[in-house]
Amino acid sequence: MRSISIFGATGSVGENTFGLLMRGGGPGAYRTVALTGGRQVVRLAEMARTLQAEVAVTAHDDCLPALREALAGSGIAAAAGAHAVAEAADRPADWVMSAIVGAAGLAPGLRALAHGATLALANKESLVTAGQLLLATAAASGARILPVDSEHSAIFQALAGEDITAVERIILTASGGALRDWPIEALARATVDEALAHPNWAMGRRITIDSASMFNKALEVIETREYFGVTPDQIEVIIHPESIIHSMVGFRDGAVMAHLGAPDMRHPIGYALNWPDRGHLPVARLDLAQLATLTFRAPDLARYPALRLCREVMAIRGLAGAAFNGAKEIALDHFLEGRIGFQDMSGVVEETLSRLSAEMCLGNAALALEDVMATDHLARVRAGEIAHHRAATRT
Ligand SMILES: NC(=O)c1ccc[n+]([C@@H]2O[C@H](COP(=O)([O-])OP(=O)(O)OC[C@H]3O[C@@H](n4cnc5c(N)ncnc54)[C@H](OP(=O)(O)O)[C@@H]3O)[C@@H](O)[C@H]2O)c1
Repeated sequence: MRSISIFGATGSVGENTFGLLMRGGGPGAYRTVALTGGRQVVRLAEMARTLQAEVAVTAHDDCLPALREALAGSGIAAAAGAHAVAEAADRPADWVMSAIVGAAGLAPGLRALAHGATLALANKESLVTAGQLLLATAAASGARILPVDSEHSAIFQALAGEDITAVERIILTASGGALRDWPIEALARATVDEALAHPNWAMGRRITIDSASMFNKALEVIETREYFGVTPDQIEVIIHPESIIHSMVGFRDGAVMAHLGAPDMRHPIGYALNWPDRGHLPVARLDLAQLATLTFRAPDLARYPALRLCREVMAIRGLAGAAFNGAKEIALDHFLEGRIGFQDMSGVVEETLSRLSAEMCLGNAALALEDVMATDHLARVRAGEIAHHRAATRT
């Protein structure tokens, strides 16, 4: 029987994973090792009881009493704190879903890979902050990373049976997010609720805002470079408002392989769960005659500075991805809390990168988790200072 763990079980990807496991036979079909979450401890305990997990872990120490209470009488162990989340990855599991949001997902993913688990990777921040470290850890233990981001799952599927050296380009599709059709001069006053109104995908709050700003796509460009080993100039981004083509691979003979499907995360999650087989999945089937038209447009870099910044980050590589992501997470926090405007987010990230470049060598290779986390921390501190200054001078 396959053993599984889910990191970030209470989130959007985690819930979809849980739903597919239940549909695929539930507790009798899998042995559940660890489930982790953040503040939603009642839901975490409910999932742990349903899947008969060995341990449930909350990332927050202050949530432990509530988690213990919710698990009372179940025989399921409870633990709390970032260290306990990472330690849960030391418990052997065949298949591990990495669906924590943000850089906090890196440490448990690395540990699961060091133990040889197959890592279903939704946490794109892991590849952005520490791509080379992640791949080296997997190579050392013989572990496999299966991409769960819909774009990277699409590319992975388009590459099945192909030689990577025959790839000319990878074309990432982007919906353009909630503010895609706004006049550019109106973006400065976009509210959180407006940026959250994604036209196609139902996702967690943070990634939905990142879709509107295209920071999500910027992270995915870096993720593509790290995971597939192509050069930055082989990666293109195209806006495709319908979100039906999840990405494309262009080969040197001119052929382009596209992956199409309904915008539903259960496809890439289910693909990673069933891989190397294809199981039946409860996703809507495409009606191409009804769809009739698929449209595309080039992204405007003035509207989406994140797409320009990710090119600078890839040119530096090393620790620049950790700085970029750390600064982005802080800028996003400040926007979500109403302290800075929508367009200030890219300003904060750009200024953080330029300040950190003067303070340290961002091009140094990310050799250890500690290097990555130290850079992440410094980027957060500087981004916080810059965001506070912007908030104070905001008109
Ligand atoms: N949602 C999507 O459709 C989608 C698509 C592609 C890729 N992804 C990627 O998948 C990851 C998860 O996204 P999501 O949308 O599912 O996020 P989400 O709904 O916000 O869920 C995040 C999960 O992580 C937990 N968490 C939050 N902060 C944590 C911390 N500091 N330490 C440990 N756990 C923490 C949350 O716990 P609580 O909720 O209990 O607090 C929750 O279980 C992200 O990297 C995202 O970019 C998501």
